[in-house]
Amino acid sequence: MEQNFYDCIDCGTENCPCYLAATGDCLVCSRLAGKDYCDCNWKGVCIYNEFIQSGKKINNVREEFTAKVEENKRYGQDTVVLVLDVGRGFALKCAKPGSYVFLKRAEDEDFYNIPISVMKSDITGGKIHLAVKEMSAKSKRITEVQPHFEHIDAGTTDSAGKANENIAGSNKRENIGGEDSLCVRGVYRNGILGIKSLIGPRGKVDTDRKMMIVTKGVGFAPAAHMLEWIDGRARADIYTDTDKIEEELIAEYLPQRLNGKRENIDLRREFEFKGTERISALYRAGGYDTLVVFASDYYIEQIGKILKIDARSNNFRLCCGEGVCGACAFTDDFGRTFKMCKCSGIMPTESF
Ligand code: FES
Repeated sequence: MEQNFYDCIDCGTENCPCYLAATGDCLVCSRLAGKDYCDCNWKGVCIYNEFIQSGKKINNVREEFTAKVEENKRYGQDTVVLVLDVGRGFALKCAKPGSYVFLKRAEDEDFYNIPISVMKSDITGGKIHLAVKEMSAKSKRITEVQPHFEHIDAGTTDSAGKANENIAGSNKRENIGGEDSLCVRGVYRNGILGIKSLIGPRGKVDTDRKMMIVTKGVGFAPAAHMLEWIDGRARADIYTDTDKIEEELIAEYLPQRLNGKRENIDLRREFEFKGTERISALYRAGGYDTLVVFASDYYIEQIGKILKIDARSNNFRLCCGEGVCGACAFTDDFGRTFKMCKCSGIMPTESF
């Protein structure tokens, strides 16, 4: 009997059992995948029992909802940070590292949905901050959305020279008439492959670790979010490649409580002139025991050739996030197929 090799990020969460249990394709439970025996390694509440006892109900389907765009701030040519008002409950769910959501405009078809990593989760204010790189049609559609209101300085007047009536104490806002909202679906959890090994299934930070975090471009966003969660409880140095991201954005979103240093690194230059030597030298000299890389597949592959990567950005093509569409499928050397929107247990470092 072949032991189940799959590890599902949603297993045991409020979103389990999911659609895959209903279609007979559960990634963890063999009985919910059409077999008549159990071979799972899962140590939590039995998914099969949960599903049957609840009358074959899918738990907490992630519904789309509308969230107000509170801020739209451009950094450089093509990066925009959107701040969405999602409410405290949703912001709390977004607090775990690796969280991402799907976004689209209300009037757009579903195929406009785009997965975006959470860069910051402000639980008290009920807001999430997302860094969006304008690449093509889908990303440009969402960065066009402007807030209905904009924060303004005290004493600002409107076009008629009249004091703005929205000014109230410190919460001074001006109606600038933007479209102001986006459709949000989430929260999804597998934005960082290997995250479970770093923070454990209950999100506990391993304080004995010393992490080296390497980011390139908007790979900084999930790194900032992870550092926010770590909150200085473990040593973590971050090496940022600022080739495709503005210094201003990094300065604003790098968490204050960083138990470590931040340095810049030019990955392209490193690999053009010295291969992976300097990265491995930095890793050894820093006495790190954990390596996390948020960069393109090319750099993940290059670094993965000489250093063991413990966690990495999930760069697979995420389309539904639910394990249904198969867009994110990855087949390993043994011919086993993984749906990477759900699977956090393997760490591909080769190009695919
Ligand atoms: S994104 Fe659809 S199956 Fe993974």
